[in-house]
Parts: sequence; structure tokens; C-alpha cells
Amino acid sequence: MSDQEKRQAILQELAVAFWMEMETVINYISNSINLDGVRAEEIKASLQADVTAELMHAQLLAKRIKTLGGIVPGSASFVPRQTSLQPPKKLTDVASVIRGVIDAENSAIDQYGKIIKLSEGFDYVTQDLCITALGDEEEHRREFMGFLSEYEG
Ligand SMILES: [Fe+2]
Ligand SMILES: [Fe+2]
Repeated sequence: MSDQEKRQAILQELAVAFWMEMETVINYISNSINLDGVRAEEIKASLQADVTAELMHAQLLAKRIKTLGGIVPGSASFVPRQTSLQPPKKLTDVASVIRGVIDAENSAIDQYGKIIKLSEGFDYVTQDLCITALGDEEEHRREFMGFLSEYEG
């Protein structure tokens, strides 16, 4: 791959990560408000706090896309993917939301891993950004896996 091709590949994957973060922001807001019941309170508070972290990731990715000479996409190119994070049929079904959150965190972890490998030896600033975000997503995932083990006994 030429340097130009590498840069294009990185820009493309940064845009994928940007949309993942934006979709996560949407669904964490929805779920942090939709859920009902005493047992949902902890999950709702945690999701609400994570919205800020995920929004920050989206903003950092957007800035990096711009710095690398790309254009930050607008909503017309958005394609939803988080099927498991849609509002549950029963609004007390906290476990379904927890599983959806773990799926979303896993997807983000895979995507950041992909960009980290793609930037190796070529773009350390992008790599550094993605390593930090990866660490954040691993923390989010760990927290929700803890919630899940409580719900599944
Ligand atoms: Fe994130
Ligand atoms: Fe996250």
C-alpha cells in the first residue's frame, strides 16, 4: 500500500468508528431514559455517564479526520447497525439492554483494534487516539459484564 492508500484506508476506518460512537450516543441516551424499574436505576445512571465519554470519542475522531485532510460525514451517510441495542419490548428488560451495550462495546473494541494495526509504523497520533479510546471501551465493557453477571446470577 502506498502512503496515500494507507491514509485513505485510515480515514475510511475513522469514519466507521465515528458513526459507531454517534450511534452509541443515540442508543445510550434512549436506553438511559426508556428503562423502568428499581433495578434499572444503576444501569440508567451508568449509561447516562457513558454518553459523555462516547460523545468525546466522536468529537476526537471527527477532529482527526479533519486533520488528516478528510471530511467529517453528515447524517445522510449514517447507516444504523446496533440491532441488539434497540429499546426492549418490555421496558423492565434490563438484561437485554446490558447485552446490547456489551455488543456495542465489543464492536468499538474491534474497530479501534483495526485502526491501531492499520496505523502501526505510519500514523502514531491516530494510533494513540485509538489506544486511549480502546482502553475506555474496555472499561465500559468490564463494567457492563459485571452488571450482566449480577442479572444472570
Ligand atoms: Fe466510545
Ligand atoms: Fe464505550
